[in-house]
Amino acid sequence: MKVRAARPRDLPAVSEIEEASFSAPWSVSAFRTLFQRDRVRFLVAESEDGVIGHAVLWYALDEAELANLAVAPEERGRGVAGVLVDRLIEECRAVGVRRIFLEVRESNRVALRLYRGKGFQEVGVRAAYYQNPREDARVLRYDLPVER
Ligand SMILES: CC(C)(COP(=O)(O)OP(=O)(O)OC[C@H]1O[C@@H](n2cnc3c(N)ncnc32)[C@H](O)[C@@H]1OP(=O)(O)O)[C@@H](O)C(=O)NCCC(=O)NCCS
Repeated sequence: MKVRAARPRDLPAVSEIEEASFSAPWSVSAFRTLFQRDRVRFLVAESEDGVIGHAVLWYALDEAELANLAVAPEERGRGVAGVLVDRLIEECRAVGVRRIFLEVRESNRVALRLYRGKGFQEVGVRAAYYQNPREDARVLRYDLPVER
């Protein structure tokens, strides 16, 4: 498995994973606009069979938001998301980002375990942040170690 920057030709596979992963999936055009934006990291994980996961992070100054992360259902539980998150943290370090924020459904135990395992801390709740079903978001933050 390798992780690399997404390309436009990955969009059909990314969209399929997205649709299988979320009740309110991003559209293909939402992903496509990322290629025109600065300060965005849109990564895919790829195996011999093709794209098996994707991650999107954007940043401004020293803060970033992990905006999307999904792995194909049949590929879950093998560390793919962990590798994507590690890579995003690395890329943040390279551009001087100090803090990464994200929101996650409070019922999403798997994602919460993943992020806590990576060192994200819970810093707040956004009430009724999600629809379909309506649900609170936990807000998580990761502080990058200060370089000496
Ligand atoms: C959340 C998601 C991205 C995790 O992807 P993944 O590749 O299966 O995750 P990994 O295999 O890297 O697992 C990393 C950690 O997540 C947790 N985890 C993964 N699968 C789990 C499971 N079935 N049950 C409990 N915890 C699990 C574990 O803590 C694991 O760490 P460990 O292996 O050290 O125990 C994937 O389940 C997914 O796409 N879900 C739907 C979309 C989604 O919820 N995205 C996140 C939105 S914030």
